[in-house]
This record gives sequence, C-alpha cells and structure tokens, in this order.
Amino acid sequence: MGTFAEKYGPFALVAGGSYGLGAAFAEGIARRGLNLVIVARKKDALDATAARIRDAHGVEVITIAADLADVDTVKKRVGALGVEIGLFVYDAAFVPIGPFTETTEDQLVSAAAVNVRTPLLLTKLFSTPMIQRGRGGIVLMSSLAGGQGSPNLATYAATKAFNTILAEGLWKELSPLGVDVLVCTAGAILTPGYEQAENAKPAPGTLSPATVAEKTLQALGNGPVVVPGVVNKIGRFMMTRLLSRRGAIGIMSKNTGDLS
Ligand SMILES: NC(=O)c1ccc[n+]([C@@H]2O[C@H](COP(=O)([O-])OP(=O)(O)OC[C@H]3O[C@@H](n4cnc5c(N)ncnc54)[C@H](OP(=O)(O)O)[C@@H]3O)[C@@H](O)[C@H]2O)c1
Repeated sequence: MGTFAEKYGPFALVAGGSYGLGAAFAEGIARRGLNLVIVARKKDALDATAARIRDAHGVEVITIAADLADVDTVKKRVGALGVEIGLFVYDAAFVPIGPFTETTEDQLVSAAAVNVRTPLLLTKLFSTPMIQRGRGGIVLMSSLAGGQGSPNLATYAATKAFNTILAEGLWKELSPLGVDVLVCTAGAILTPGYEQAENAKPAPGTLSPATVAEKTLQALGNGPVVVPGVVNKIGRFMMTRLLSRRGAIGIMSKNTGDLS
C-alpha cells in the first residue's frame, strides 16, 4: 500500500531527535520525503540537526526544545503546531546506571517518566487520529537489556521491557486499523549516550546509529519486533529462548556488572 510518505506522512515526530540514534531516525525519515518535528532539550543541537536535514533533503523541520519528562508541555507544544503526525518515533531514554542502592528517587522518577509515562501517553495521543485516518506508524525503542534482568541497569532494562511488550500488543491491535507498530530491540549502538557510560565494554555486534535507524525504518510494517544486526539476533535468541532466566541474567551481569 503506497510509498513510505503516503503511508506515514506528511509529518513524523521524533522524540529525542537531535543527536545519536534519534538524529539518524530523523535523517532516514527525511530521506523518505516526510517533514519532521524533532523534540529534545538542548536547543543548539536541535537547531543544528534541523538545519542539516533541511539542507540535505528540502523538507520542513520544526523543532521543539522541551524535556520529555514533562509530557503535558510536550503535548501542548505539539498540539499548537496543528500538523498531522503520521509517524511517531520515541527514541529518548533516561538511563540510571549503577547499583540500585545508589540510584536516587529522582532518577527513578525520571526513568519512569521519560521511558514509560511519556511514550505511553504520546502513543495514545498520536495513535487516535492515525486510527481515524486508517494509516500511520509508531516506532518504540527498546533494548536487548530489556529481555531479562540486567544488573546495574535494572530500572532502565525494566522500562525497555515495558516498551517491548506495549509495542507487541499494539502491533496486533492496531494493524487491522491501518497503523503499523514496531519495537526496535537494539544491541549496542555507537551513540553519545553509549559512549558516556563509564566502563562500557566494546560489545560484539555494535552498530552505527545510521544502520539501526535504517533497518528499523525498513522493518516498519513488518512488526512486531526488529533486532538490527546478526550478532544481536543470535544474542537475543540465546538470551530469551535457549538460556534459563538465571543463566541469561548471569551473562548480562558480565556485561553490565561494572557499569557506573
Ligand atoms: N546506545 C545504545 O547502545 C542503545 C542500545 C539499545 C537501545 N538503545 C535505545 O536507543 C535509544 C537512543 O539511545 P541513545 O543512546 O542513542 O541516546 P542518545 O544518543 O544519547 O540520544 C538521545 C536523544 O534524546 C534526547 N533526549 C534525551 N533525554 C531527553 C529528555 N528528557 N527530553 C527530551 N529529549 C531527550 C537527546 O537530546 P537532549 O540531550 O538535548 O535532550 C538526544 O536527542 C534509547 O531509547 C535507548 O534505550 C540504545
């Protein structure tokens, strides 16, 4: 049914679209001819990405500098634009790294807000008109860390599991209504966020943001799940299907146990 732009245009909103994987999503979507709304906190990075994409692809790029932890403000700012969002990509995440005993209540609240509450409420906001139009797309970002308990990333991993399960359920509910839902369960991606994590070991199968974004956009319409990269596909199969829960958590712990 139609081209990417016909199915998912005229505007895509990328939540967390100023750098890293989110900027790669914005780039890949603009290349497919859609206009963009990109949301992130730091205005300079947002403006630079918007200018680069406008120059390269000749599409309209609207920026919203806002904290996605504050979903009400984001909803108001998006509503005031009066544009039709045919594709919603939720990329941003808050990652409290380190032992749970040292994680503050504020960090837990931020993780719940940025990684769970906001993608849930924005999915509701954007899916409603998409269902009325009988077309649209929703992409939620998850992680291999969300396939089992992940020591030192326990809260983040649990929020990613939420996104996986939400997207899987909505894929089945919304595809008969014309709305494609997809969750990207990524392994390590060479983004600023990944590089900032102290003691992050170079993981096998690490991919570039451009590769992850492209494989995800290509998979939209063939949900419910995309796992970019062969190494990551094998890893996910082992961790979720072959190993016991205890075994999978033990292996994860070898990768995440030293993170701080
Ligand atoms: N990197 C990996 O290895 C990896 C692996 C598996 C899954 N993932 C998933 O991939 C996604 C992207 O991760 P990443 O590491 O690529 O992130 P990143 O490079 O650090 O980029 C995050 C983007 O989100 C924005 N952002 C973050 N918090 C925000 C907030 N509270 N409000 C508004 N915007 C916010 C950032 O801009 P501002 O800072 O200016 O707000 C930036 O545009 C996440 O969902 C993550 O769970 C990543």
